[in-house]
Amino acid sequence: RAVSTDVQTVFTSSDDATTSTSSGLPLRDVPGCYGIPFVGAFWDKMATYWFEGMPGFHENRRVKYNSTVYRMNTVPGPPFFPDPRVIVLLDQKSFQTLFDMDKVEKRDVFTGTYVPSLEFTGGYRVLPYLDPSEEKHALLKTFCFEVLKSSGKRVFPEFHSALSDVFVAWEAGLKKDGNVKFNQALAQATLRFNIKAFLNVDPTDPNVEANMGKDAVRIVNLYNLAQIFPTVAFPLSLPAKLFLGPLIELLLHTFPVPFLLLKPNYDKLLAFFRANSDVLLDVAETLTLDRDEALHNLLFNTVFNSWGGINFLFPQIVKTLGSTSIVFQRELSAEVRRAIRENGGLNPAALRAMPRVESAVLEVFRLHPPVPFQYARAKKDLIIESHDAAFRVKKGEMLAGFNTLACKDPKVFTDPEVYNPDRFLGEEGQKLVQCVLWSNGPQTDTPSIYNKQCPGKNFITTIAQLLVAEIYSIYETISVQGDTLTALQRHSA
Ligand code: HEM
Repeated sequence: RAVSTDVQTVFTSSDDATTSTSSGLPLRDVPGCYGIPFVGAFWDKMATYWFEGMPGFHENRRVKYNSTVYRMNTVPGPPFFPDPRVIVLLDQKSFQTLFDMDKVEKRDVFTGTYVPSLEFTGGYRVLPYLDPSEEKHALLKTFCFEVLKSSGKRVFPEFHSALSDVFVAWEAGLKKDGNVKFNQALAQATLRFNIKAFLNVDPTDPNVEANMGKDAVRIVNLYNLAQIFPTVAFPLSLPAKLFLGPLIELLLHTFPVPFLLLKPNYDKLLAFFRANSDVLLDVAETLTLDRDEALHNLLFNTVFNSWGGINFLFPQIVKTLGSTSIVFQRELSAEVRRAIRENGGLNPAALRAMPRVESAVLEVFRLHPPVPFQYARAKKDLIIESHDAAFRVKKGEMLAGFNTLACKDPKVFTDPEVYNPDRFLGEEGQKLVQCVLWSNGPQTDTPSIYNKQCPGKNFITTIAQLLVAEIYSIYETISVQGDTLTALQRHSA
């Protein structure tokens, strides 16, 4: 397969509905329909969560319509959430439309068709909900870049210290019970690391003002979950699915979570941030930002955007690598140890000398993008091209890119369902790096105040590689089944 040619064609698309498609693709109506109001939405919701599941729902429609672009009702839908009608984009080519700020608007679409109560963010529309055309977008994104920049010197040492605690907990668990749920210690350590990196204080330290103590992970998890709860899938067995499915849809996925239920929890989180963010808020003030607005953005960026993503991504990395062959893991650990030796420690230079680690991590991002959907509204009448057809889309229509399948586009990736840790190595592999889209943009692009690409892209890519490097600097192999660690093999010397 001529992968490189396919990759190049991904980035060409025609501009607006007044020009015919330059690529000569047939112009089709977007297939699919929304059905009768309420009923169609409820039916699609039941199919999404209970009958077909994810990504099955979309794989089935891709076959049914013979198209990677089609209409559907997305979750959570009526009666208490706004209009669920979207046009789904499933391939690498049509997905690129979402990154073009001349074509799409990204106002209030961060969580999809609904916006959680603003009370979760102090009454402010925080940065991820702003379109770049809004004045505050540039200011708040600059502030976010400043926070990330100031964390720079702490990242490597704090991450090392956090991971050392994880290894102690893992080994103690294995010694005691023969296996250990690996994410318990990992979640606690990464949250501490994340907050320490940004705010320079440990949120669990009893000497820190308004610290959250042992409850930090629970407090943050509740805060994050409440905002995405209307779209969270419940993993149930088949009989439970049949009986509880409709009930859950009617009772739980139908209403936004009332903020009042979460207020005591949120107050603790806010008190901690309020007591410990002065240095960063001084920086915000120099950017002419209001301190209170900056505070709520800082809180949201740290615990929802950053740690929420980390807490999804890191377990995937451990699970995926812990399921690869012993031979591969030995080679990976040899690369890690060689790079550390040759660069005088686990530092940025050493990390840059680990191409296999980089590739193995990118492949996890490709197979498991932590934020599966990215949404946007057509700013004007558009023609959106997939690999095989062109579609007319009206101004104001909602686009829903499904990152999970776009990153398994068979026209771009060979054996797209397979975890191939070496996929991004070599000249051909490097050409594929631009097709990894987890950050709401190509992995080769740079987040800026003019786009909506994740400002934490480089921070997250770095610490994801560091996670692998830390593990394989100590262990030659690890064994994982599901969410359980079953063995750790330390290097002999
Ligand atoms: C935007 C993913 C970490 C701050 C986004 C978007 C995605 C994303 C997909 C685009 C959403 C959209 O517009 O549809 C992730 C993942 C992360 C992560 C998976 C971790 C694994 C971070 C970190 C920060 C951050 C570390 C900063 C501290 C933001 C902000 C935006 C954003 C502020 C909005 C950008 C804008 O409005 O221009 N992130 N992110 N994220 N992310 Fe991240």
